[in-house]
Amino acid sequence: MSLRPDLRVSALIIAAVVTTSACDDQVKYVPWFETMTTQPSVETYEAEPLAPVPGTVPAGSARHLDLLAADTLLTNPLEGTAEDLEQGEVLYLQFCVMCHGETGAGDGPVVGPNRLPPLPTLNLLSERALDLSDGYIYGMIANGRGVMPSYRRVQHEDRWYLVEYVRQLQEEAPVAE
Ligand code: HEC
Repeated sequence: MSLRPDLRVSALIIAAVVTTSACDDQVKYVPWFETMTTQPSVETYEAEPLAPVPGTVPAGSARHLDLLAADTLLTNPLEGTAEDLEQGEVLYLQFCVMCHGETGAGDGPVVGPNRLPPLPTLNLLSERALDLSDGYIYGMIANGRGVMPSYRRVQHEDRWYLVEYVRQLQEEAPVAE
């Protein structure tokens, strides 16, 4: 049984394509594959770049800073709205309360005899703590110190919520020691 002439041509072309080492070059001459090379598509740089999603944090501003750098370089971007404080409370109860205590007085459940010694710096309501800059508190969260672990895993913006919450605890404190 012999092939139809047009099929024979096609078969020859396929044989040529298959047996040629530079297959890529040959493939585009086969009519069946034209849809692959001439498909409608967006070429590189043809379309406008997509704008970042609102609220995206530029990589630069989330760069890790040590305590001194955070203290001197960072300014608090939040204004302490009710929502900021709500977020801050959730995070504080999750990450800080066990040591610094509910009011921030440094009397959390893990502080006491045979447990964490009650260091004066644990007290977030002390004169000293009131004088700390927002950037310093951010830096403490990011770096930790001594017994206090680093909370690097707490995201950039969440650290500022925590700062706001600590500030609120300080404002609420009856008398600073
Ligand atoms: C495991 C216990 C522990 C946890 C949890 C903890 N801290 Fe601390 N924190 C400490 C200790 C201990 C100090 C005192 C460290 C020192 O003086 O070297 C301290 C000190 C601080 C200071 C004051 C530093 C100074 O120089 O006066 C700030 C501010 C602070 N912590 C904020 C936080 C925040 C916010 C969180 C929650 C993200 C947190 N800490 C979680 C134990 C803890």
